[in-house]
Amino acid sequence: MITALDHIAIAVPDLEASIKRFMEDFGLEFSGTEDVVAAKTSTAFFPLPPTSIELVHPLQGEGPIAKYLEKKGGGLHHLCFRSDNIEEDIARLKDKGYQFLSDGPSDGAHNSKVIFIHPKSCDGVLIELNQPADDH
Ligand code: CO
Repeated sequence: MITALDHIAIAVPDLEASIKRFMEDFGLEFSGTEDVVAAKTSTAFFPLPPTSIELVHPLQGEGPIAKYLEKKGGGLHHLCFRSDNIEEDIARLKDKGYQFLSDGPSDGAHNSKVIFIHPKSCDGVLIELNQPADDH
């Protein structure tokens, strides 16, 4: 079951400059950066309860975010719904014909399990499902 809007992610070409903007200009709390090797991204999180802002940047200049930045320069990248049972949500949505970017969940930030629904299944919006570490 989907239980919350976990985060909204923005793809950024200059992670340090964007972290500075969100901390100093917008005055948000910064909870740190984390490299997510499975997704080839460097992430930075700003908790803004009950959700968070995630900045995503390519890890070592590679991966899907690198391609996105090449095409668009930066922008709103995805929404993430929190799930209390990701396998159940994947099965339910697959039954309804939703397409996913991978066969099953992989490791996300903060030891979560994550999977992405194909944007063509959701009117062009990339949606991540995320089950936090304490729920699996
Ligand atoms: Co995300």
